[in-house]
Amino acid sequence: MPGAGSTAAATPLRELGALIDGRRVEVKVPATTANLGPGFDTLGLALAQYDDLVVTASATPGVHVEVHGVGAGEVPTDETHLVVRAIAHGLAHYGYALPGLRLEAHNTIPHGRGLGSSGAAISAGIIAARGLLTGIAEMSDVDALALATDMEGHPDNVAPALFGGLTIAWVTPDGPQHKKLMVHRGVSPVVFVPEAEMSTALARSLQPDSVPHEDAVFNVSRSALLIASLIQSPELLLAATEDKLHQNYRAAAMPETNRLITLLRDAGLPAVVSGAGPSILVLASDPSQRLIAAELVAQHAETPWQALMLAVDVKGTVLGVS
Ligand code: HSE
Repeated sequence: MPGAGSTAAATPLRELGALIDGRRVEVKVPATTANLGPGFDTLGLALAQYDDLVVTASATPGVHVEVHGVGAGEVPTDETHLVVRAIAHGLAHYGYALPGLRLEAHNTIPHGRGLGSSGAAISAGIIAARGLLTGIAEMSDVDALALATDMEGHPDNVAPALFGGLTIAWVTPDGPQHKKLMVHRGVSPVVFVPEAEMSTALARSLQPDSVPHEDAVFNVSRSALLIASLIQSPELLLAATEDKLHQNYRAAAMPETNRLITLLRDAGLPAVVSGAGPSILVLASDPSQRLIAAELVAQHAETPWQALMLAVDVKGTVLGVS
């Protein structure tokens, strides 16, 4: 992809640590749910559950990472940590090397469940790089999305993580673009999170290279209707969340997710796989529908599922620099 993501290969990176020694950057990044049924690799929604990060720059080389909450003891604590890699990627685009830094992460976004944890880590790192570069280089929103999409591979999680709300993301020869929309206040998301994880790479490997034309038309109609439903007509969400592009192909890899979604939809609830799964998103059109969904899942699940009744986040990634 041309644009912000490309970095001149042979240019040596400049030293940054001495310029920003002691600079402290705080970043708050939301969870996201992508696809929303028919909007494969395109639609995403930011949810009010957050990872909080503090990055402190130093002139002394070396990376120190401290992780609290989700991922503690599991994710790397050196320069291979995804947030640190995203910071380095963001800085390199402007010609700067990673300074010495200390990263403190307080995570609540579940990993490997389809709630955009990697998109959140990448978005947080890119916006932390924006903070570290304050007064030195200007990172536009377009560049932030391009840099994050470079790392994530598709823009549907990083767009809502960066900008909040409901986002439509699309890719052009000049890089990814996005449009942010505000969701109708009647829409009440609930996410059901199982104990099992699902690898996005595995889920993507189950996708066919091509799909029948009629399935493509089916999803075009539902995606268009989904935008109308989410911003104006929540009563149409059940029809608008139908999909033929990804969920069936992946169903065998997450059988309980598939079974519960069928059950919820048969009860009239707009249930879909959240991102690449295995969590389930129900886009309830009023708070009582959320409770009905929670009761159905509690009655019929064979393994433990956690119900997260989450508001839509409208801010996206929030940055503080001191
Ligand atoms: N659109 C992506 C997928 C979201 O379904 O594979 C998960 O990264």
